[in-house]
Amino acid sequence: MSLSMVTAKSLLLLVFIFCAGAGAGAGAGAGAPDFPSTSDEESQIERFQQYLRIRTAHPYPDYAGAVSFLSAQARSIGLETLTLEFTPGKPLLLLSWYGSDLSLPSLLLNSHLDSVPAEPSHWIHPPFSAHRDPEGRIYARGAQDDKSIAIQYLEALRHLKARGFSPLRSIHVSFVPDEEIGGADGHAKFVASEQFRRLNIGFVLDEGQASPTDELRVFYADRLPFSLIVNAVGSPGHGSKMYDGSAVENLMECAEAVARFRDSQFDLVKAGIMAGFEVISVNTVYMKAGTPAPTGFVMNLQASEAEMGFDVRLPPTEDIDVLRKRIQEEWAPISRNMTYQLIQKGPTRDINGRPLVTATNESNPWWSVFEQAISVAGGKLEKPEILSSTTDARYLRQMGIPALGFSPMVNTPILLHDHNEFLKDTVFLNGIKIYENLISALSSFQSESILEEIHLEL
Ligand SMILES: *[C@@H]1O[C@H](CO)[C@@H](O)[C@H](O)[C@H]1NC(C)=O
Ligand SMILES: *[C@@H]1O[C@H](CO)[C@@H](O)[C@H](O)[C@H]1NC(C)=O
Ligand SMILES: [Zn+2]
Repeated sequence: MSLSMVTAKSLLLLVFIFCAGAGAGAGAGAGAPDFPSTSDEESQIERFQQYLRIRTAHPYPDYAGAVSFLSAQARSIGLETLTLEFTPGKPLLLLSWYGSDLSLPSLLLNSHLDSVPAEPSHWIHPPFSAHRDPEGRIYARGAQDDKSIAIQYLEALRHLKARGFSPLRSIHVSFVPDEEIGGADGHAKFVASEQFRRLNIGFVLDEGQASPTDELRVFYADRLPFSLIVNAVGSPGHGSKMYDGSAVENLMECAEAVARFRDSQFDLVKAGIMAGFEVISVNTVYMKAGTPAPTGFVMNLQASEAEMGFDVRLPPTEDIDVLRKRIQEEWAPISRNMTYQLIQKGPTRDINGRPLVTATNESNPWWSVFEQAISVAGGKLEKPEILSSTTDARYLRQMGIPALGFSPMVNTPILLHDHNEFLKDTVFLNGIKIYENLISALSSFQSESILEEIHLEL
């Protein structure tokens, strides 16, 4: 008895010394963190750094290393693990914490395992070192996109387990391959699988983007990406001859029409009438014409073929047929010897034929729970946005499942895919607290009808 008391006492003392040491260390120096971190927080930061050091960048992402690290974390927390492999060499890790009512739709927390490449020569610290500078900035490829949320989910679940929390709805966590290269072998195959169907997912949290202000950002849709290729033909002729109907002349009509349309959209953004994500963007990505010669191009010949490529992005509620009509009539009319290909790069409607949009109003009870949990956690939300680029959330929305893009990173420059991507330790730690609130609220929420009743009473 007395021996164990002594042991307990010295252990307490040790813990005390360690906490004080860690606190003083973290708090030292100029630009000290907003609060000294405890030893618990220091271990959370270490686990984040460990995950960041796994080289998951394309073209050779270490999926096995990442899955093995995350599985070990999950086991230490007490979560069930399952590795799925829809494409050889591209594992998908699924963690589960079953709720007390298995008949209720579950919660899914999603992140991707892979990262885009990094050019070390442009970084002030090596991109896989996860170096933490005296100001608490942790530098690594994936620090914002999106290894932060992966570890924040796990650490929030670790806290909830330690606290004796018991979810009503099941909580699943997915770590998927290949998001950065389109997700065809990753999330697209996952949502189409029997394993996915059996999870009975009711609501998903996926990645979002950093916020340079102190308000959190949330994304309810991705813009729809298209590639547009316009081909023009025309009579060839001598470089000296003025005539109508050459291929390049025809293609210039297209370029001018597109430029006028682009200006009309961009002017709305510049005038502050619409946000960038509410308009259609069209940007020229290549131009191809001319007859090659050993030293460049033949300079006295007007070519008989010319081609231009555009990146086109549509808000998800836009009618694609209206765009097609515009291309046929104004941008690439056949009467001007032009043809086009409009290539859709991903789903554009859900399985019920509806736009790929998650409602952010009271028609979506999950939204109300989300919003409330953020406010309980002391967070402020910006007006919900449409993401300019794409994420795997589109595959979930395609299944008719509400999904929000959310990465809790306030007062942080947007550095995804950029050199010197970093996340501050304090921002990372605060995100864990936000997820703790979110996960406990979302997994406890009783039923959609009960929530509606509460709203009616209010
Ligand atoms: C279309 O191309 C053909 C040759 O391919 C040419 O004879 C004709 O003039 C062109 N018409 C226009 C409107 O450019
Ligand atoms: C809620 O949002 C959805 C999707 O944006 C919209 O279609 C619907 O009309 C909105 N409902 C209400 C009650 O505002
Ligand atoms: Zn991402």
